[in-house]
Amino acid sequence: MSQSKKTGSVPINERHIETRLMHLGRNPSENYGFVNPPLYRGSTILFPSVERVKAKDQEYTYGRRGSPTVRALENAITELEYGAHTASTSSGLSSCTTTLLAFTRSGGHILVADSVYQPVRRISEHILKRFGVEITYYDPFVGAGIADLIKDNTQIVYTETPGSQTFEMQDLPAIADATHEKNRDIVVIADNTWASPLYYNPLKLGADIVIHAGTKYFGGHSDINLGTITTNEARAEQLRLTHGDMGQNPGPEDAQLCLRGLRTLAIRLEQHWRSGLEIANWLSERPEVARVLHPAREDHPGHDIWKRDFTGAGGLFSIVLNPCSDAAVAAMLDGLDLFGMGASWGGYESLALPFDPGAYRTATEWKAEGPAIRFFIGLENVDDLKADLDAGFARLRATG
Ligand SMILES: Cc1ncc(COP(=O)(O)O)c(C=O)c1O
Repeated sequence: MSQSKKTGSVPINERHIETRLMHLGRNPSENYGFVNPPLYRGSTILFPSVERVKAKDQEYTYGRRGSPTVRALENAITELEYGAHTASTSSGLSSCTTTLLAFTRSGGHILVADSVYQPVRRISEHILKRFGVEITYYDPFVGAGIADLIKDNTQIVYTETPGSQTFEMQDLPAIADATHEKNRDIVVIADNTWASPLYYNPLKLGADIVIHAGTKYFGGHSDINLGTITTNEARAEQLRLTHGDMGQNPGPEDAQLCLRGLRTLAIRLEQHWRSGLEIANWLSERPEVARVLHPAREDHPGHDIWKRDFTGAGGLFSIVLNPCSDAAVAAMLDGLDLFGMGASWGGYESLALPFDPGAYRTATEWKAEGPAIRFFIGLENVDDLKADLDAGFARLRATG
């Protein structure tokens, strides 16, 4: 069940993305005309006979192993990412963990971008190392130079573009080509949460696996936790096995909300992108701001990669302030009316969060003029957001 039954002269998967998003993962003619797929809850799923139990050919066998609600979402993501198979899990992070466990073996070695979403480092250090997997963190600007870091036992190259918090752009085609030229069995993974499949398709650029924290843009309302893992054909079976063995699955309500979020994804993302870039440009003119880290700005390191490989940007970016005290940053952020302060992003409201990657990076050095803040620009009016930030900068200056 991947699309509406109605077919005109143009197949639905050849239509524009905004149109495809309205049809993915639903088939009203199978559901009494109801526009949205129904919510299937459940653990036990009955078999009609011993013969069918033994045949193991029933599409749904146990709640944890999938339901029409969850499958509808997975099929939609498979189509959006041009993949062969999608597995969904209870969070973005559990998708990262499941993928890392699916494609590493004891005695192996993995390469992880130094700018990666930080909990991926924790999985690597706390779980993979216990099973004898060696980890090398690499400079995200490595490009084809990744070849020099590949060892005989390398099993995974883990990428995230742009990097979490600091927005380093990775040259995925160069990394994937160089990796696969050395050894086709190495699995190239791409976390694509920042851009969504609307603005970046890693499988088309040489990755084997794409991960999304559906918690962010897919859900779009800060009310679910969910992750997806999409593979090419070659990696599908191994992912299916590990995903099933680990008992990973999202709750049906979260899957349904995630699928619902996809219907408005294109229009939300475009607004996040437009407002985000406007605020980023406005911030770049502020005397309190030393640098803006936004891949769609010409002054951003790796902007040429964004222009070549991406078709949009969303609303997440960071700034580095000119030197000021922690108390000044706190005065600015604590008093903001419209910006929330909290983990995650991709919902409708704007967020601001201080961060310091210097504490945990190991392959590269984080050099910053002053404290850094990550912004997520939501769907509010940008003039209201600027006024809120303007008052915040006044508090920052007053505190020093
Ligand atoms: C890039 C990226 N990947 C994965 C995750 C993990 O997602 P979740 O919070 O759903 O576990 C996050 C969360 O912030 C993220 O920013």
